[in-house]
This record gives sequence, C-alpha cells and structure tokens, in this order.
Amino acid sequence: MLNVSRVTVENMEQGCVTDERNPRISYAVHSDLADTTIQDAHISVADWSTSTLEQVAVPYEGAELQPFTTYPVRVDVTDNYGQQASAETSFETGRMNTPWQGQWITDSSYRFTEKKVSPRPMVFRRTVRVVRDKTIAQARLYATAMGLYDFTINGQRVSDYYFAPGFTSYKTNLQYQTYDVTDLLSQGGTESTVLATVTGGWAVGSFVFTRVNRVSAKRQALLAELRITYTDGSVDVIGTDSSWQVALDGPVKAADLYDGEVYDAREQLTSYAENTISGRTVAWHRASAEKLAIKPNIQADYSARVREHEVFTPISVKRRDNGELIYDFGQNFAGVVRLRIKQARVGQVVTVKHAEILNPDGSLNTTFLRTAKAQITYTCREGDQEYQPRFTYMGFRYISVHGVEADHIDVQGVALYSDMDEIGSFSCSHDGLNRLHSNIMWGAKSNLVDIPTDCPQRDERMGWTGDIAVFGPTACFNFDMSRFLDKWLRDVKAEQTRGGGIPNTVPVQGYGFPATMPKMAIDWWGDACVLVPWAVYCSSGDKQILRNMYATMKKYVKACLFWAKLWGRGDQRYIWNTPSVLHFGDWVAPDVPQMSQWQARSPWTATASLNNTSRTLARIAQVLGESEDATYYNQLADRVAQAYINVFTDGQGKLKNEFQTGYVLPLYLNMFPREQREVAVNNFVKLVESNDYKIGTGFPGTPYILFALADNSRADVAYRMLLNDTCPSWLYEVKQGATTIWERWDGLDENGECPIGDDGTDIMISYNHYASGAVGAFLYSRVAGLEATSAGYKTFRVKPLIGGGLTHAQASTRTPYGTATSSWTLHADNTVTLSVTVPVGTTAQVVMPDGTSYQVGSGTHSFTSPVSSLSPAPQTEVKVATDMEVR
Ligand code: BGC
Repeated sequence: MLNVSRVTVENMEQGCVTDERNPRISYAVHSDLADTTIQDAHISVADWSTSTLEQVAVPYEGAELQPFTTYPVRVDVTDNYGQQASAETSFETGRMNTPWQGQWITDSSYRFTEKKVSPRPMVFRRTVRVVRDKTIAQARLYATAMGLYDFTINGQRVSDYYFAPGFTSYKTNLQYQTYDVTDLLSQGGTESTVLATVTGGWAVGSFVFTRVNRVSAKRQALLAELRITYTDGSVDVIGTDSSWQVALDGPVKAADLYDGEVYDAREQLTSYAENTISGRTVAWHRASAEKLAIKPNIQADYSARVREHEVFTPISVKRRDNGELIYDFGQNFAGVVRLRIKQARVGQVVTVKHAEILNPDGSLNTTFLRTAKAQITYTCREGDQEYQPRFTYMGFRYISVHGVEADHIDVQGVALYSDMDEIGSFSCSHDGLNRLHSNIMWGAKSNLVDIPTDCPQRDERMGWTGDIAVFGPTACFNFDMSRFLDKWLRDVKAEQTRGGGIPNTVPVQGYGFPATMPKMAIDWWGDACVLVPWAVYCSSGDKQILRNMYATMKKYVKACLFWAKLWGRGDQRYIWNTPSVLHFGDWVAPDVPQMSQWQARSPWTATASLNNTSRTLARIAQVLGESEDATYYNQLADRVAQAYINVFTDGQGKLKNEFQTGYVLPLYLNMFPREQREVAVNNFVKLVESNDYKIGTGFPGTPYILFALADNSRADVAYRMLLNDTCPSWLYEVKQGATTIWERWDGLDENGECPIGDDGTDIMISYNHYASGAVGAFLYSRVAGLEATSAGYKTFRVKPLIGGGLTHAQASTRTPYGTATSSWTLHADNTVTLSVTVPVGTTAQVVMPDGTSYQVGSGTHSFTSPVSSLSPAPQTEVKVATDMEVR
C-alpha cells in the first residue's frame, strides 16, 4: 500500500503559523512494494496547485496570502504501480505585517538601574468582556515581549511553551507567538482576566558571564493583541495600551536565567486577578506606553519552541546530617524541577539547589556554576501544592532540597529543550558505544534550548558558534534541526559585522567579540556561518538555507582571507596567522594543558579552516548555480592547501611541528598531495600510537580524527581510539559514569574527583558540552555506514565499517523522504549480513565489506558478504559522483 506518511509546512506537521510569503511544503511517502517511485504528484494550497516530483521544500507560489487565515494543504501522489495516496494538513497565516493595534507597554514607574541582576518581574492584566449576544468563533492572542512572558486567561496558561518570545538578535529579529485562546475566554457577558508575567530573560535580565543587563531594553515591555472573531463575522481587537494595568508584586518575586526563581505561592496568579491578596492590596496601576530603543522586525515565530520533554523521577534520595535532601535523577540534563509539596504550612520556605556532580562528602558541588546561583526559593501556601519554575532553567543531575522532609515532597526533573523531532537512532554490540550515543543525545538535548548553547549550567549558556560549527552534522543525524537552525542562522546573518566577521556568540546579547573589531574573523567559530547551513542542507536538501546565507558566507570568507593575507609573502599569504590570542586554536586539546597552548596552534587550525570554508563554499556555489564563484573558491582552497603543506610540513608528509589536529585537518580535508598522503597517514598513526591511542585533539580536530584514520585505510586505528577508555577518550567519560558529554576529557579523575588546577582551565569544568560528541557522525556514517551522497539523502551510501570487535551495529535517520536504515551483523563464520531500508524517492549505493557494490531503490534489502579483512577497502575506491561531493 502507498501512503503519504508526512506533510509539512515550514517543517511543521501541524500548527504552523507563519508570516512567510512562500511557505515551503514537503512530504514523504511510504510503500510496502519495493522499488516504488513517484510518477505524478500534486501539491495544492487552497486554490493553488502545482505538479512536481520535488518532495522537499516546494514553495507556495499562489496568490498573495492573507493575514489571519487558515489555508488547507493537500498532497496527491501516484506511484509507478498506479497506486494513489493523498494527505492533508493546513497552516495559518500570522499577521503578515498587519500593523499592531496594541502598543508596547511597561511599568514606567519602575526605574531599573541595578547592575548584574535581573529586573523585578512585572505582571500585566486586563479584563475582557465578550458581548453577551455574540458567540466566539475563534480567538487568537498574538504576543511578544522584551523579556520572557507567560500569559494566563482566567488562571489557565495559554500554552506550554517556555521562554517566549525566544532568544533572537533582538535589535534585528523578534518573534511573536500566536495562541488559540478560543476555549479560554468566558462567553455570555462574563468577564475574563488576561494576565501576563514578564521577567527580564535575555533582553533585559542579567546574562553572559559578565552578567550585563538591560542590553536590549531598559526594562520589560509587552506587546499583545487579542483578536476575537465572532460567528457573525465581526472582529474585536484588544491591544496592549494604557487600559491595561501593571504591578511589580506578583508571585514571581525574582527570575533570572542563571540564578533561578523566587516564588511566593501565597500570591498565586489565579487569586491575583483580585485586588487584594492575603489581605494586602496589590499596587495595580496604569500601564504606560514604552518607546523601545530598538526596532526589530517582528515576525511570526519561526522556531522550534522550547517545551517539556522527558520527566525523571529520582533514582535515589539521601538525607544529610544538616537536614538537606540530596536527590539524584540519574541523568544530567537541562530543565527544571517539578515539586509536589504535601500538607505545607503557609509561609514554609523550600529551597532547591542544582548541580551536575556531588562533592566527596555527598553535598552538591556548585563550584563550576561560577556566578550562576541556580536556585529555587519557594514559599508555600497552606496545604498540597505543585510548583515548577517558568522563567529559568538549570543544567543538573542532582538537587539539594531544604525546608521540607522527604515524606512531604515528591520531586521530578523535567527536561526542557527545543521541540525538534528526534529522528535518529544508533545502537551496536558495544555497551560503551551505546552509552556514548546516549550521552551525545543528552549533550544535544541539554544544549539545544532555543539557541545552540555551549553548556546549560554555568553563567554562559550562550550561542557559541564554534560548538555548533563542529557538532552540526551529528545534530542533524539525530534531530530534525531545520527550524531550530534556520532561526539561529537568521541571527548569525544579522550579527555579521560590516567587515564580515561573525561574533563568537550569537545572538550577541552582551558578549560579541569580535563584533567590536569590525573586520575580525575567528576560525572555526566564525566558520559556523558556512558549516552550519551546509550541514542543514546536506541533511534536509533544502537549498533555501544556502541561498539565505550565501552573501554572509562570501563576506565571511573574504574577511578570513583578508587576515590571512595581511602578513607574509608567497605561501605565507595563505597562512592565517593573526596573533593567536585572537583565536581559539586547538581549543581544549588535552595533550597540552594551557589555554595559551591551544591558541598557539591557531596558524594550523586557522589555515585549515580557510581551506575548509572556501572548499565548502565552492560546493555551495555549485549547488546554487554560481559556477564562477565555485571556481574561485576551489582555487582558493587549493592555494591554501598548498601553503599549509609548503609551510607546515617537510614536503614529504611530515609536519615540522607534530600534533594530532595538525594532521587530522589536512588529512580529513584532503590537503596533502596524493603522493604524500600515505606517508602523512603513517606519521599521523605513529603519533597516535605514541599517545597510546588517546585523543589529543581540540574542537577543530575531534570531529574528524576518526574519519582521517578510517578514510585513509586505518579503520583499525580509528576503532582503537574510539574504543579506548583511558583518559582522554570518549569511553573514559563513559567509564566514569558520564551521562552527557564533558567539556574537558578529564572532568573526573580515576577516583571520580574533579581536577582543580590553576592553569586557567579550572573554571572550565562543564559536564554538559556537546562539542566532542561530534564523534556521533562517525557512529552513523562509518560504524553503521549510513551517509548522504546528495543533499537530503536523495542518494545515499550504506557502507559499514566492520571492525573493533563489534558484531552488530544499526543506525537509522529520518530523511526528508522517510527513514533510512542500515543494520549489520557479523557472524562467527566471518560473513556479514546487512539490511538496508531505502525510502521512496531515494536510491542507495550499498557497499559490502568485500567491496561488492549494489545500487538499490526503495524498500528493505538484505545482503551478505564475507569480510576479507577487518578493514574494508579504502574509501577513495568507492567515491560516488554527487552534487554534494560529501566525504
Ligand atoms: C565555552 C566554549 C566556547 C569557548 C570559546 C567557552 O567558555 O564554554 O564551549 O566555544 O568558550 O572560547
């Protein structure tokens, strides 16, 4: 049977509200007949329809879309067997630039002047009375804020989203959200109370490690519009204006992304609709209009919104002598606690602290949170109650609870992260690797919280560009990253400096070096503007992300080249050696302890980065049909490669200054001339052997080291490194009980204690940094052998890398066309069976360990072959010609 398994609008299956003029429609088809191909397909949106065999990101090109309108979408497909299938969805347009009838409002009596803290939360309220003789057909609330907002109507939350309006480069981009509130408003002439709490969040609150505040606005402000459409077709619009009231004494007493929340349940929002609380009169006063200093483009939410996901119950609770309760959730994650307190006394204060690890005495170790207090202070009302913070989150595995006995409280841990579909799976016969995969997933979940962050616990949680630059491909195997990264890349584009540099953290929001040095470009970190769109394109097949970012990428590479050329002559003109303090170099390389030593490797890492970005840009230019650009960037990449080899090696495959990343990058990026490559591989392998197969790479080398080995016929060495469990190695962390990926490989020593040195890196101990989890791409594409050879897996290769003593591995990822799977088993007689699932609309090349190769269409196929040697034939022998030229 044929069925249309998935239809999306702007990469959402349901509930898309968009301001895009040409929303993109994609669909996937499933069939139980092998070799199904689509012969005929129609996509229609209302009266518009197109006939196309393209399944990915087909733009709506009908009449101009009207605001506040629901559009039906339908896909009709006929296959080569004559079977037919169809599916429907719909989307709604947002404001489509309709001017707001509301205005920005604030509490102008609030002078927020303190530094390094977040403002007092504001509460806004308005009562709404629906005309008695009218019936509501539909009601929508459109809202945004400077700060984080949360609306209730008649005491009920309008949505389950966290951290609206989301973190963007506010001076350019600001999202508004659309809520269906039809069922929340009272009808028949009864009043409804609309309340909004607005805290400082990113825009006004204290953020980044300097704890700077008021970066985007001097205090919170709210912009909202309630549109009520009646069954008779009439419409009422109630916007924010001076008819709204505001107060500074709601139940959320304090909220800060790093420090946590202070909540007084005696002043709950439901009763807060009254004018008195516990006998106290609330200081409601008129809200006043606020003039923002910035003028962002306010667009319908285009993000993957943050929501609750996994809920953990503790695996243990211990009571310490001082009365505090220590709970262990068994998993490090980003999120909040949910407290259920029983038979509380009014005024009883319960405090919760969060940490990733415990001290040897069983208390929480909060040292590495730096200035982040990560604390909840909750004052109870009488009786049973439940509380979960809304305006903060923490990175933690353990909590300590004060002020209540264990039998009077139940706690849960609620994971919060962006709503990206989990599309990938990996498992194999090695438990350690399975745990590693799980740790990679949790590293990602904990750091894909509206923006791609470095870590979720200490006073950073910033959009560090280098981290996602290297982790992007792994993220794309595991999650549908399209909306999440599309959103973030809009800010990357917005934050590019006039000279072409990309700030190290995006959105800038208080820390944006090198934004202050207009032309400055920083290798690997700035490279995110090229590498991230490329990773998204490779997995999604949607060219729009490349088109949107193309000018940004070109400008960036130009800036990189400017710096490379600034010093030196001849080959030196292509060696990027600006002073190393301006780079991160081989960041966190474990073979050298000092930060300055990581940075000192920047001539190598930066030059290789320039080769990589220009080569990738050449591929992108090719995809976009910019062939002159493609030639230019290919030539540039060649020159840079030649310079690297001429300057850094002896010309015979040996680095003058040998370190792992120094070999990894030119090997992975194919920079060595063919005749030198084998010697270079041998020299590299010697270096790895002399380091007992332990990792010596920093951010730029770690994602590629195993590829550099395996793709150069040394799968044996790649597996030894992958399976090594001596520090530093991926499985060392696993052996030490890690449940996420660490920032430093030696985050815990053999005794389970954390190293506290004084080399400047002691303040960098995070147990939840996804960057070195970039090895995940190797698990999928080499261990299981699943790899796109053209964008969006239109064509892909399945070529498992049998070795390392593994007897089984499987991986699957949901491609835009459906789920692609590779699953292999090594039998005692040294034969391998491989099962491959190929989605309708794609074809796969299957390469067995004995080198035999098959081209297959849709369906599930099985293959068997002997394993002649445990290292398969060299990668170069089976290169497939593709538009992407993936590695
Ligand atoms: C962050 C990193 C980041 C780095 C760059 C750190 O503080 O946590 O992950 O990329 O700074 O310097």
